[in-house]
Amino acid sequence: MNAAVTAPTNVALDVHAVREDFPILKREVYGKLLVYLDSAASAQKPRQVIDAESAVYEEEYANVHRGVHHLSQVATDRFEATRTRIQSFLNAPSADNIIFVRGGTEGVNLVAQSWGRAALNAGDEILISTLEHHANIVPWHLLAAEKGLVVKGIPIDDDGQIDMEAFRNLLTDRTKLVAITQMSNALGIITPIEEITRLAHGAGARIMLDGCQAVSHSAVDVQALDCDFYVFSGHKIYGPTGIGALYGKSELLADMPPWQGGGEMIARVSLEGSTFKKPPHRFEAGTPAIAQTIALKAALDYVTDLGLDRIAEHEAMLLNYATERLSALPGITIYGTNPAKASILSFTMADVHPHDIGTIVDREGVAVRVGHHCAQPIMQRYDIAATVRASFALYNTLEEVDALVASLEKVRELFA
Ligand code: ALA
Repeated sequence: MNAAVTAPTNVALDVHAVREDFPILKREVYGKLLVYLDSAASAQKPRQVIDAESAVYEEEYANVHRGVHHLSQVATDRFEATRTRIQSFLNAPSADNIIFVRGGTEGVNLVAQSWGRAALNAGDEILISTLEHHANIVPWHLLAAEKGLVVKGIPIDDDGQIDMEAFRNLLTDRTKLVAITQMSNALGIITPIEEITRLAHGAGARIMLDGCQAVSHSAVDVQALDCDFYVFSGHKIYGPTGIGALYGKSELLADMPPWQGGGEMIARVSLEGSTFKKPPHRFEAGTPAIAQTIALKAALDYVTDLGLDRIAEHEAMLLNYATERLSALPGITIYGTNPAKASILSFTMADVHPHDIGTIVDREGVAVRVGHHCAQPIMQRYDIAATVRASFALYNTLEEVDALVASLEKVRELFA
């Protein structure tokens, strides 16, 4: 360890107790204890979530909303309990504001294909930012091509934060939607969504927030935010894959047409035509991810019980320590230096390709993501092909930051 940098003490979250909840953290990779620094791609699952999902299959599995039999009713009640849990987690006015989707990507596509296709017309403008994940870019490109819409990108400053002056200039009466991330998956930058939402509404535009990265790091109140739509994925908040949620304001959901047809979303079907249920079921065609949805409640309970504030505090400590230690290494450039950021450290090392770094540190048991992180506009902004991204979660420790630094020192030795 660099003698100038010492590990902070008085950690409020008992990370060693927390780690006991995550069985996978005991496994080894290439003979070394796993150091998992890729939670921004997908977080590991606590025993509480794993048990909740397997209990569904062992004790109460049946299809939901379809059966009169006991098991189907039990499964339906448990399934709908997750909707109610998401309502309280996001402070939505009603469980009917919560639509189950496969993840954030499907949530954005739903907004684009249902609300966007009905509400937007040729020439209307959609503002996205340079920080967006491809999931909050490509659905708008697809819709724009179909309907003659204009997608405009809000630039970022050198420190990775949204250029608010540019945003104000781009926002006009032609802007019908601002679709923006609450936290960049590639840089960790937290965007000023309160101000962005206020300005967007002032210009008469709707706002959709991509909360996939933010939701596991800070409490969200969709009513206080006054956003029109909010999406998040379960797998980034210690829940299962294949399940996420879209929140929408009631008056918007009420007028939105279905985007997928099938069972469960209809009121009546004849060979000549169909009528549809009210939201949220109107948007939930087909058999859903039943066990995963039920287990998502366990994940939300888990982070709520630990306390999102304490989790954020723990992650901030890890990020500060990691930033300090990596900054002391020769040849490291960190991207996303604005102080409004959380749990993600994106960097390059002079003269070493990020993929080589990823491969070498992996041999030391350290899992990081390398590449463009499904956020190519950010790479274009900084004129780089890729970064190394270390992302920190509630189960990571200062010793794991030290392991990352030691593995990077090894990279430097190999390329010296
Ligand atoms: N969107 C995920 C990431 O940031 C997969 O890695």
